[in-house]
Amino acid sequence: MRNFELYVPTKMIFGKGEIKKLSNEVPKDKKVLLLYGGGSIKKNGIYDQVKTALKEHTVIEFSGIEANPEFTTLLKALEVIKNENIGYMLAVGGGSVIDGTKFLSSAALYEGNDPWDILANRIRTVKGLPFGTVLTLPATGSEMNSGAVVSRSETNEKMVMGGPGLFPEFSICDPTVVHSIPKRQLANGIADAYTHVLEQYMTYPADAYLQDRFSEGILQTLIEIAPSVIKDPSDYKAASNFMWCCTMALNGYIQKGVPTDWSVHMIAHELTAFYGIDHARTLAVILPSAYTKKFEHKKEKLAQYAERIFNITEGTIEEKAKEAIKRTEGFYQSLGIDTRLRDYTDDYEGFSKKVAKNLTDHGMTALGEHQDITPEVAAEIVEMSY
Ligand code: NZQ
Ligand code: ZN
Repeated sequence: MRNFELYVPTKMIFGKGEIKKLSNEVPKDKKVLLLYGGGSIKKNGIYDQVKTALKEHTVIEFSGIEANPEFTTLLKALEVIKNENIGYMLAVGGGSVIDGTKFLSSAALYEGNDPWDILANRIRTVKGLPFGTVLTLPATGSEMNSGAVVSRSETNEKMVMGGPGLFPEFSICDPTVVHSIPKRQLANGIADAYTHVLEQYMTYPADAYLQDRFSEGILQTLIEIAPSVIKDPSDYKAASNFMWCCTMALNGYIQKGVPTDWSVHMIAHELTAFYGIDHARTLAVILPSAYTKKFEHKKEKLAQYAERIFNITEGTIEEKAKEAIKRTEGFYQSLGIDTRLRDYTDDYEGFSKKVAKNLTDHGMTALGEHQDITPEVAAEIVEMSY
């Protein structure tokens, strides 16, 4: 096992009816900016619960943060933060609203001229404007990690950022919010969390037995609850397990002491940047090709995953590993997620070259657990997924 440090300062408040605890978690002596998305929280009752809990606070609102949060929208929120002298932020939404808030947390205290530099120059944020979250969509794990992804559609860019100053101070995760999530987003959430685990697990054996079992436990639980969540999102048993799996998949615990990959995410982000495809769906397109391309490096863990998750006990390591890739693609498809780029667009010829260029421009020239996925290799992976 590798050496590691673990720092996860976010206070997790989990369970039915817990949104009311906001009144104690959000400081009363600061002006609060409440940030949310396109309005789903007004239809499903979450907005009312939040406003009731904050009735003794001074609250200003900023809405309209879109899925795959846009830099230009966030700049408008940044103006509000500066003009209104905001001292605390509350993100109420899914990964997009939370990530947008993380960008603002960094940008509010940034001393440079252009906040885009935080993303372009990959500046690590050590101190940000404090914020908490109310999670409305289990998927990204953003509620308990310090990463964020921001898009700039006019230049076809989708960039990652982070730093120890960007953990939410607290996150309230009430699984009853799952009842109003559309099927498409439920499938996305399950697929995203599943892939987060794979990015931290599907590398090479590293004598990290507990981390492997943690990861396998999350994968098995996601497979177990997926049909129930999609069939009836108001099933609390399924929803609560779904929500906690998504958080545990990307709150730092399973990645400690082991090599991690993340190339699937970095390549897949380009599919959202160019075509606007939902994040989770881009992962389902790229992952099978990426694992096929890097088969030799990943086959031992693929075979372990085949045995422990899918009970495939017959055959050689190679046979089990190949079957594991097929079953993973099958799992995405069982959620109603298409796994080829041509299922989403007809305009894919030449796309691989654009991906290679964007990755080069953004300095992502050595991806994967062996840092051997160059932009050329990434382009091959993209072509294999057409
Ligand atoms: O905007 P509203 O009206 O709120 O609607 C949202 C949005 O349209 C809707 N929704 C959310 N909660 C709902 C609901 N609808 C009904 N009932 C509810 N309770 O769902 C739609 C999608 O929301 P979004 O926040 O975009 O989804 P998700 O949580 O999947 O976030 C995706 C973003 O997170 C980034 C992705 O790249 C993408 O930009 N990621 C962030 C990560 C991180 N910070 O650690 C890691 C991930 O790998 C990912 O890259
Ligand atoms: Zn993801």
